[in-house]
Amino acid sequence: MTTTIRLNNGTQIPHIGFGTFPHDGEDSAEPTRHAIEVGYRLIDTALRYENERSVGAGIRASGVTRDEIVVTSKLPGRHHGRDEARVAVRESLEHLGLERIDLYLIHWPLPKLDRYVDTWKTLIELRDEGVLGSIGVSNFTSEHLDRLVTETGVVPAVNQIEMHPYFPQVDQRRAHAELGIVTESWSPLGRGGGVLSEPVVLRAADAHGVTPAQVVLRWHVQLGTVPIPKSRSIERQLENLAIHGFTLSDQEVASVTALGRPDGRIAGQDPDAYEEF
Ligand SMILES: NC(=O)c1ccc[n+]([C@@H]2O[C@H](COP(=O)([O-])OP(=O)(O)OC[C@H]3O[C@@H](n4cnc5c(N)ncnc54)[C@H](OP(=O)(O)O)[C@@H]3O)[C@@H](O)[C@H]2O)c1
Repeated sequence: MTTTIRLNNGTQIPHIGFGTFPHDGEDSAEPTRHAIEVGYRLIDTALRYENERSVGAGIRASGVTRDEIVVTSKLPGRHHGRDEARVAVRESLEHLGLERIDLYLIHWPLPKLDRYVDTWKTLIELRDEGVLGSIGVSNFTSEHLDRLVTETGVVPAVNQIEMHPYFPQVDQRRAHAELGIVTESWSPLGRGGGVLSEPVVLRAADAHGVTPAQVVLRWHVQLGTVPIPKSRSIERQLENLAIHGFTLSDQEVASVTALGRPDGRIAGQDPDAYEEF
């Protein structure tokens, strides 16, 4: 049974979600349907992933009641701006086949474009109109967050950021805790790369009789972040969800965090410079 975490608006969301970023153009309908059937209730997509139609189809095919599922989507760079943000939300609703998006994020801050505050103002309106449930951001630095709060008074519920053992985001998580923002971790397994064969991860997996991926996901949950692992395989979807039957020691958590590297980002996507439209 997945535990939940409380957002700053009182809403509860599952403590682990399902990522759908489509690698190699794969279709997301079947993986999404499987994921919901095995127990995921937090689903992550984005207009930019061009898979919202298939994610929506997977949600409907699962047969699980709409109210039980927290659907997340994100606003891409090309739709930053007061009016443009409304267009983005309309497009996502139409693609997903939904009347409301439960958690909606600004995908990247694009500081050079400098329209994220205007975009945020429109998301606040859409939340107040009931079209969006909770609103948040993704890939925002402390500086971007402070500006949103100073200029609008509204603190994002969530900041979805790159986070895995090679990039544990110690300072950013501290800033989120001070502001009351829940951290969601993207690429929580480091895209299935080297983190899963690190000796400290293997040792903890051995000690608890679990897999390396379960150690890494448990590390996220014990740090209070919400990982959103992606997997096409039903076995791995189940494996990634089964992380509530053991507890890592403080020492194990600290040694996984110690794998962090200054240049630990997988693809060098620095939010101050990275642009995606
Ligand atoms: N906000 C943003 O800017 C942003 C950026 C990137 C990603 N995201 C979101 O975050 C989600 C997750 O990130 P991600 O897909 O980049 O990386 P990830 O979840 O860390 O890793 C996915 C990779 O790990 C493999 N994998 C999954 N479970 C495994 C297990 N138990 N053991 C070994 N390998 C396993 C998967 O392969 P199989 O499929 O073969 O199992 C896949 O290749 C995305 O899908 C997307 O929704 C957001």
